[in-house]
Amino acid sequence: MAQAIVSLLSPENLDSPHQTLVISPPQEGLALGGELRIPGDKSISHRALMLGAIAQGTTTISGLLLGEDPHSTAKCLRAMGAKISPLNTELVTVEGIGLGNLQEPQDVLDMGNSGTTMRLMLGILASHPDRFFTVTGDASLRSRPMARVVKPLVRMGATIWGRDGNNLAPLAIQGQKLLGLQYRSPIASAQVKSCILLAGLMAEGETTVTEPSLSRDHSERMLRGFGAEVKVDPETHSVTVQGGAVLQGQEVIVPGDISSAAFWLVAGAIVPDADLTILNVGVNPTRTGVLEVLGMMGADIQLLNERTVAGEPVADLRVRSSNLSGCEIAGDLIPRLIDEIPVLAVAATFAKGTTVIRNAEDLRVKESDRLAVTASQLNKMGAKITELPDGLEITGGTELHGAEVDSFTDHRIAMSLAIAALRASSPTTIHRAEAAAISYPDFIPTLQSIIKN
Ligand code: S3P
Repeated sequence: MAQAIVSLLSPENLDSPHQTLVISPPQEGLALGGELRIPGDKSISHRALMLGAIAQGTTTISGLLLGEDPHSTAKCLRAMGAKISPLNTELVTVEGIGLGNLQEPQDVLDMGNSGTTMRLMLGILASHPDRFFTVTGDASLRSRPMARVVKPLVRMGATIWGRDGNNLAPLAIQGQKLLGLQYRSPIASAQVKSCILLAGLMAEGETTVTEPSLSRDHSERMLRGFGAEVKVDPETHSVTVQGGAVLQGQEVIVPGDISSAAFWLVAGAIVPDADLTILNVGVNPTRTGVLEVLGMMGADIQLLNERTVAGEPVADLRVRSSNLSGCEIAGDLIPRLIDEIPVLAVAATFAKGTTVIRNAEDLRVKESDRLAVTASQLNKMGAKITELPDGLEITGGTELHGAEVDSFTDHRIAMSLAIAALRASSPTTIHRAEAAAISYPDFIPTLQSIIKN
């Protein structure tokens, strides 16, 4: 029977939305085991809701992520006339209103914490002539750079205003008839690529986005599934769509999110007595950098029951306790594991030797500055992590102790710290742990369910 090693403390006062998580591993060491399911893929969930809303006819979505971010996307789409049934994991129905038919919302569109909602939606909104939109979000989202999508959209003919030279939300958008664009993106970002492709659906002529290396390709796959003409050149990392596409509602089956599986992969590898099987994980090759890196580090991970579900590769992943060694993580790998770097830093702390992460400067403008926060919070627990301008240098083989740490309201930091705490020699208190619900509302019950002693 699992001891109560995980406890979630209620907010200290009724005005506080924040929760504190305390993790107290047993002195004799922890055992993890069993099969578990993870929530639906966040990237695919957003795209299914958005494409469903702008397609003709009905889209059904099963396995949708019920985190706060997809709720933000659904709420905004409903405010513009899309009919979306209450969100659930079984079956969500979206009655599409057709490309170019979103209505002008009566109020500001609040996108909460969700960068994907804001960046992708800007492409859709900017291409709705004669309609006016304002978009905003929470303090984190209002500090994240939007110029990376605003600039190319303006080159397509969009009219967008915002703070800091049209870089920061709140943003105001006057929809326009756009022109196709040949865009060479300076960064490998699926949000940038998807924004421009979505704008291209309504633009005159052809729109091509070329990236320095390949970012996740869920938009390309799903756009094809919905009937758009999408050309991909794998040599140059270019994707082309034709303006005037007609999208037709589809059945979307959302696989489990490998970014959420990553927490259990690392937990299984670093906890000395662990054998976990994570069911139904999306293993799209543009997302499996985490498997490659954990493999390079010596983690015992097996891919079982590999199959394709609704155009996306899926597998079950078995992970067992492993002796890890440090490695280098850089270059083309980075966009394929961008969201997993905080938890990979946890793995590196328990690995022999040094791990160096480079070319990951974009982590500084995620939900928090993930390089600074990962280093500062894990170092409080006894890790030896040095911040680099574009990465982290982690000296492994350190013993962690408990400490008071903070998520900085970043979901992936909250969960990475919880995984580190499983191997700490004393209790760890994680402040603002409620952030996990952005992408993983059941993180704590799932953790409790796999603790075997
Ligand atoms: C996402 C792309 C990535 C990732 C984010 C989701 C997407 O962001 O970090 O969590 O769904 O397109 P960037 O495009 O900024 O790298």
